[in-house]
Amino acid sequence: ALPPTPAAQWVESWPDDVGADRVRQAFAAAYPADDVDEDGTDAPEVRVYAAPGRVNVIGEHTDYNAGLCLPIALPHRTYVALRPRTDSVVRLASAQEPGAAWTGRLEDVAPGAVTGWAAYVAGVAWALGQHLEATGGSTETIRGFDAVVDSCVPYGAGLSSSAALECSVAVGIDDVAGLGLAATDAGRATLAAAAIRAENEVAGAPTGGMDQSASLRCAPGHALLLDCRPGLDPVDAVEQIPFDLAAEGLALLVIDTRAEHALVDGQYAQRRATCEAAAATLGLANLRELADSVAGAAAATGDPAAREAAFADALGAALDRLPDDVSRRRVRHVVTEIARTQDLVALLRAGRASDVGPLMDASHASLRDDYEVSALELDVAVEAAREAGALGARMTGGGFGGSAIALVPAERASAVADAVAGAFARAGLAAPGFLLAVPSAPAG
Ligand code: ADP
Ligand code: GAL
Repeated sequence: ALPPTPAAQWVESWPDDVGADRVRQAFAAAYPADDVDEDGTDAPEVRVYAAPGRVNVIGEHTDYNAGLCLPIALPHRTYVALRPRTDSVVRLASAQEPGAAWTGRLEDVAPGAVTGWAAYVAGVAWALGQHLEATGGSTETIRGFDAVVDSCVPYGAGLSSSAALECSVAVGIDDVAGLGLAATDAGRATLAAAAIRAENEVAGAPTGGMDQSASLRCAPGHALLLDCRPGLDPVDAVEQIPFDLAAEGLALLVIDTRAEHALVDGQYAQRRATCEAAAATLGLANLRELADSVAGAAAATGDPAAREAAFADALGAALDRLPDDVSRRRVRHVVTEIARTQDLVALLRAGRASDVGPLMDASHASLRDDYEVSALELDVAVEAAREAGALGARMTGGGFGGSAIALVPAERASAVADAVAGAFARAGLAAPGFLLAVPSAPAG
């Protein structure tokens, strides 16, 4: 007889008041009220900020190729209780990193100078200081602070817990320093740029920028179409695409495979380098230029079948100019993924959310076979979800573990989750976690 099938484990999000209470209590325990600055002044009030994790609907490994991606903000958020100081000391503690509290000084924060989780937090303060310096402001505007973090964003699951941490701190520093950036979309783009610098330069992860833009700029009920071409006015780089899943009777199920993913190891950087080298071989600044020219060649033709053939011809001609099979497959993924993102957005705009499944399936196949960033757990998750009635499923985020998503008829969500949990158990894999990705609010 088969062993009993385990029930799906759901990872609930916290209502904002719950998250805020938790982090305030943790702050009071970490830094008692009479614990004041070095110069003896009374401590100002503690304020709470929060930022969401994200899940990408489609457009994977395209952001660092100047391409398009389509993330939504999760209801799962990272909370930070923050109290400004008058000196330059920064003290940090996190419920997710017990025993790894950190104390340092702002003037000592620089690329390479901070290790561990504190790099994501101190890095944001550093990057905002750099921004002020570059725009003629005074770095003195950014002072030290005491902060405590707590989060319900699954940790290291490809759902951008790191961006949620950076962006909660970014809106916090923005507020206490009176920068006013979070009040406008252009300002939020500036905060995102600082969070990206913190991640790339201080934490040392060579990621592309989708995550921080999503956490700061997504809107409830919408997916964020992010155009990553360099030089684009940041305000023109985003478009809010209505994505009201509930109104369409749909749900977006996230499957956290709980399989290790690590971006700082070489794989991600290697994919990035291969794409950059391929663009250079083709005499282009980035692979987006190739995607645009291939799409342009296809658009010039008549009916859908002719367009498809012209797309394949134009792409094939470019691939023939690349020296090896690996770069040809990597480039084919990027170019077709940008096209799939455009196609998926067109379906959403036409009110046809329930028709996007095949594009998600094709994205997964391309990431698995051409880009080679999937993992056994991700493949098991998407196949089991489809067999149980998902309209489409794919890995999401950087890959090599992390999470998958499945678009499901709302009433099938828990049955699909149970089926995936069962498939994991039968394959001898550790139990995955499940979330419902309702497009939610940005950092605030
Ligand atoms: P993810 O896909 O979740 O962003 P990463 O590996 O990129 O995965 O980032 C996870 C890292 O971010 C953690 O190892 C830790 O250093 C940091 N981090 C994220 N959230 C928190 C938190 N709540 N407290 C402390 N560190 C955090
Ligand atoms: C993420 C990375 C993003 C993006 C994504 C793949 O983990 O942080 O910038 O490149 O992988 O689409």
